[in-house]
Amino acid sequence: MDPGTVRTLGVVGAGQMGRGIAQVACLAELAVILHDQEERVVRSALQAIEAGLDRLVAKGSLAQADKGTAARRIRTTTDLKEVAGCDFVIEAVTERLATKVQIFEALDGGCRQEAILASNTSSLSITRIASATRRPERVVGMHFMNPVPVMKLVEVVPGQATTRSTTDDTVALALRLGKTPVLAQDLPGFISNRILMPMINEAIFALYEGVGSRDDIDTVMTLGMRHPMGPLALADFIGLDTCLSILEILHAGFGDPKYRPCPLLRRMVDAGHLGKKSGRGFYEHGPEGAR
Ligand code: CAA
Repeated sequence: MDPGTVRTLGVVGAGQMGRGIAQVACLAELAVILHDQEERVVRSALQAIEAGLDRLVAKGSLAQADKGTAARRIRTTTDLKEVAGCDFVIEAVTERLATKVQIFEALDGGCRQEAILASNTSSLSITRIASATRRPERVVGMHFMNPVPVMKLVEVVPGQATTRSTTDDTVALALRLGKTPVLAQDLPGFISNRILMPMINEAIFALYEGVGSRDDIDTVMTLGMRHPMGPLALADFIGLDTCLSILEILHAGFGDPKYRPCPLLRRMVDAGHLGKKSGRGFYEHGPEGAR
């Protein structure tokens, strides 16, 4: 498929990542079909996209008239069959292999044989997801970073059977969305989380062992290393449950104890202190941000 001919993009999952992908895609003049099984999630996604576009208008980087045109390119649905006509589908549902496998089986059965099916997974095996379909050569990882409208990076991850042309088309689509693609091997954590998660885990160990306070650990990394957020604030932003599950995948996938999740992280997840999404993690989170 010539990526220039991608006209309709399906986005499955309208959570934080899916809605961000839909936002950048509508600005790149793609027709978007945004799916979520819950009507409530679809509605909140549309509001968030509207707010994201308003932010661009307020900054002067999008004309008011273009905002309306862009927003109208997004159609929402709770029926997965409606993405069947898309040229390219990006799945961005919860990080559960069984759920993703089910969705890929359904997409494979419904979508045209030439359509590319991509997963935004942050750490699950693309090869494993692809093997749930009859088109593993057209299944690929397309890992965006949060917040999608701001972060420039996309990791493109070919699985064992992914063809070169699928990878090339995915790279071209990422460029068309205004992103900078990098190629990563289908190994646990790809490049991003292979590096990021051990850093976050080490920061949690430093807190657990009393090497420094929460604020001092984060200050070292913001003021000392110029990171936009400290690792504990970033863990809250990503979700502590997500961090734990990625670390478990790294630990199991490599069998290397260096990836063992810190017991404090496990305890916080057990307590339901998941970070921004639950209102409490290493920080307290109110509507006006972290405290
Ligand atoms: N949508 C659109 N624009 C947004 C936005 C959103 N959700 N959030 C922030 N922005 C824009 C703002 O409009 C602002 O733009 P301008 O500079 O052009 O005005 C800019 O981003 C900065 O925003 P703020 O001033 O509101 O806030 P900030 O300076 O504190 O930045 C941040 C917020 C962009 C989130 C920044 O703290 C940051 O970059 N943090 C690190 C994020 C990160 O590491 N993400 C990767 C997480 S890992 C991941 O996603 C992968 C995984 O698999 C776990």
